[in-house]
Amino acid sequence: MKLWSKGFEPDKIIEEFTVGNDRELDLRLARYDVIGSMAHIRMLESIGLLKSDELEVLLAALSDILEVIDQGRFTIEPGVEDIHSQIEFMLTERLGDIGKKIHSGRSRNDQVLVDLKLFMRDELRNIANAVDALFRRLQSLSEAHKDKLMPGYTHLQIAMPSSFGLWFGAYAEALTDDMTIVKAAYDITNQNPLGSAAGYGSSFPLDRKKTTALLHFADLHYNVVAAQMSRGKTERAVAFAISAIASTLGHFAMDVCMYMCQNFGFITFPDELTTGSSIMPHKKNPDVFEIMRGKCNRLQAVSNEIALLTANLPLGYNRDLQLLKDIIFPATSTLIECLHMCDFMLQHIIVNSNILDDKKYDYLFTVEDVNRMVIEGTPFREAYRTIGLQVREGKYKPSREVHHTHPGSIGNLCTAEICAKMDKIMATFK
Ligand code: ARG
Repeated sequence: MKLWSKGFEPDKIIEEFTVGNDRELDLRLARYDVIGSMAHIRMLESIGLLKSDELEVLLAALSDILEVIDQGRFTIEPGVEDIHSQIEFMLTERLGDIGKKIHSGRSRNDQVLVDLKLFMRDELRNIANAVDALFRRLQSLSEAHKDKLMPGYTHLQIAMPSSFGLWFGAYAEALTDDMTIVKAAYDITNQNPLGSAAGYGSSFPLDRKKTTALLHFADLHYNVVAAQMSRGKTERAVAFAISAIASTLGHFAMDVCMYMCQNFGFITFPDELTTGSSIMPHKKNPDVFEIMRGKCNRLQAVSNEIALLTANLPLGYNRDLQLLKDIIFPATSTLIECLHMCDFMLQHIIVNSNILDDKKYDYLFTVEDVNRMVIEGTPFREAYRTIGLQVREGKYKPSREVHHTHPGSIGNLCTAEICAKMDKIMATFK
């Protein structure tokens, strides 16, 4: 039985093709569907389309459904098309005609939109919290290991001294930029589409400001057509935010794989956090970070997938939009899983000391020695040539002294300043 049934049922094969896995995906929207309905009926009562005793009965029934959802006992029955139909059927089954009143002034088009907005708003907050936790882990590792030097590379050739303080801190600060994009996606998401109905509004005098306040949206999508257009556009904004973080995290995962390689040998993890080989008994592989790198690379394709799915759709609702759920739902979960995993692994990272004592890193110090000569009065180009000649003739002896003091350098990480950037963005989510 369909909400839109007018005396015939569609062919089974049509139903299977159009519904697909949407029922399972919709389970993630169940909670939000009930919350959206509660706001909608409160508004309906305020404009006289429900009596106050009807409202009370409906709210009580919806609260019961919410409890079932929160206990994990909620299901969408076979033959029921989606979450919206399931909840309406449950209400009419229990309350008869009162249950049938709930859908006045609403369409499943704005109902699913409001569900998705609430869902993505929560997911962005979850992402922000997971990023914040990883950020703090990186910052504390940066401080804890700030005196341990490591080689810095350009062109993957040894270049200048770097440090674990710089390395960990770099990814922490990069995450603050990503969070600016998360915040932008959050602001786009945090607008109320409810009341746009099928996409063209309603002849009922809907109090859209009331539902906006009840659902704690920052504002409305005022224009009903723009509200409908926000489906797809919101997902795309969220995907950009996911992509930004995934790019940072994937890059970090690559560093970890490389630095764990014996040819580098900068870091290790306890045996039980690594994986082995079925043939080579000595192996300690970084599979966690390889899977993380792969997942993060895939996550960066999500915005493209959404762009292609929604490219040139006619204005208004089109069923294609349903498929967005199958792209964005796994994406938010995967990103959060990767962020948690990275944080977990970093709790156990083992950072090696005295890496630069190895002779192969001698040339890392050429710039330090050139600069020392400059400070002592030699013009830069002359000092450069002197050290260059020593290198060419095999006579270069590194002093191995590193003295960096400017903001953001090895000796002055500016951890507090970077922390302040993150705190400022995180405060906007509260
Ligand atoms: N499952 C549908 C979706 O996600 C719900 C909205 C259905 N609306 C419609 N006009 N068929 O888009």
